[in-house]
Amino acid sequence: MKYLFITLCISLFISCQKKDESESKKTPPTPIPTDFIEELWYKNAFLYSVDVEVFKDSDGDGVGDFKGITQQLDYLIQLGVRTIWLAPFQPTPNKDDGYDIADFYGIDSRLGTDQDFDEFIRQTNKKGIRVMMDLVTNHTSDQHPWFKAARQRKDSPYRSWYVWSKEQPKKWDKGMIFPGVQKEVWSYDKQAGEYFYHRFYDFQPDLNMQNPALQREMRKIVRHWLDKGVAGFRVDAVPFLIEIANADFDPEKPQYQFDIITQLHQYIQWHKKDAILLGEANVDPKDQQDYFGKDGQNMQTMFNFFANQYLFYSLATGETKLLKKALEDTKAIPPTAQWATFLRNHDEIDLGRLSDSERDKVYARFGPDSTMQLYDRGIRRRLAPMLGDRKLIDLAYSFLFSMPGMPVIRYGEEIGMGDDLKLKERLSIRTPMQWSNAPNAGFSTAAKTVQPVISQGPYSYTKGVNVADQRADSASLLNQITRLAQLRKQCPEIGWGNWEMLDTGSEQVLAIRYDWQGRSLVVVHNFSSEPQQCQIATKTQTGRPLTDLMNNSETPLGTGGNFAVQLPGYTFRWYRVKK
Ligand code: GLC
Repeated sequence: MKYLFITLCISLFISCQKKDESESKKTPPTPIPTDFIEELWYKNAFLYSVDVEVFKDSDGDGVGDFKGITQQLDYLIQLGVRTIWLAPFQPTPNKDDGYDIADFYGIDSRLGTDQDFDEFIRQTNKKGIRVMMDLVTNHTSDQHPWFKAARQRKDSPYRSWYVWSKEQPKKWDKGMIFPGVQKEVWSYDKQAGEYFYHRFYDFQPDLNMQNPALQREMRKIVRHWLDKGVAGFRVDAVPFLIEIANADFDPEKPQYQFDIITQLHQYIQWHKKDAILLGEANVDPKDQQDYFGKDGQNMQTMFNFFANQYLFYSLATGETKLLKKALEDTKAIPPTAQWATFLRNHDEIDLGRLSDSERDKVYARFGPDSTMQLYDRGIRRRLAPMLGDRKLIDLAYSFLFSMPGMPVIRYGEEIGMGDDLKLKERLSIRTPMQWSNAPNAGFSTAAKTVQPVISQGPYSYTKGVNVADQRADSASLLNQITRLAQLRKQCPEIGWGNWEMLDTGSEQVLAIRYDWQGRSLVVVHNFSSEPQQCQIATKTQTGRPLTDLMNNSETPLGTGGNFAVQLPGYTFRWYRVKK
């Protein structure tokens, strides 16, 4: 409701602006009134994604825990993080790294107790950190008591909480999310005597979200965690959560029930006015409006998977044309909405929306070996080993912090952690955090850790890929990312303002201008390994020089607000435009 109100105010504001403009024929500015900065905190947040299990082990049993992460909060503060997103931490058989939940209200005993969780939240509150968590209600583990009851008896009230078919559905082997690993989306359950539906692995039966009882249960779950102090939810697998699944439906052409999200949005806001939903929905830009909601009444924020794929294409080829188009294609979102932008997350890089030849170019550069590829669409590597070149890595992070959206970084990426391709599927990029060059990278004192620590090769914790060594080195990736996070804080116009792409005269150089409340910023990135000579039209007529925010040097502007710049390979500039 609150957001609807804010959206209405903003729309009104914008439409008044538009009227003025049509009279004066100026470019339409769409500033957002500052009154809503508190509620719309995610416009300019920096989100850190972490899995408690592999972050820091406090008791020496080899598994990370809530006490461990609580001890490391100052590290996150130093990095500039004020929002954490926790991967699932509830009781689980752990066959999908916790995304197979067996109790939505509990804490996995390996990670700590309810009290440990509460203490963690108390400490984050004290330090001004918001905590978001995964909401994985598309499916449960097959070990969840609801599924156990549902498969046991036809007349169980839980039977209709899942999706069943007496006969094998015609499309039983269509629409798998993990092709190559998963064989079907309908599996026969002997005990139930029927087929059950699962978009993901066969140990993750899909919940039947059309059932109002289950929608009530989902509200109960979010209420439970909001009451415990969380600031919002990363909603897992949104398109599958809201698809209308039944024995006759076509998993390749599903229909969606968006009001499940609208109601969830309203519900969480009644309980906490600035709580948010962050959707995992890899959708085509033509569908993004449905997910954000026309007036912002669905997801406040969603991962920009679309731009992510073209960003990797640009990093691989040096060409920016398709990335520019992807940014333009994902530009039109409600004024209260925001994209969550990222380089790597905890899954494979999904390149499924690129053409075959585009994807092949990314594979050739970043994942040439078949062991690096996954599910016929992606790459299961961490960023540092993939990009290899430190200058390219710096360019990628500078672009991430300066592109439209709120940047999200996965733990370990800030120190350039490597991957372990011996581990299966996406576990390759889920190895323990590397804190120091002590045994087990200072993650744990146990003889055996929950996942192996990377201790061989150039990404070993003994080779400087650890927090302690990098803190002490001003040129380290960790310190570079800390600086970028600070820089982003000095540039609120990125999250709040209007943006437009500027002409650079180079296919390899991408420049964006932001404007907000009289403040303007121009960011320029050279995606090519070669130097580029460009002529950038800033559209500024003040005649005052630009200030380079990295080194405070000044760049004079020529007539018409143009300036020439020679950018060495893989370099970038952040310029403040003076009024
Ligand atoms: C999401 C998660 C992924 C998980 C899947 C099933 O896509 O990001 O890690 O395997 O949902 O829950």
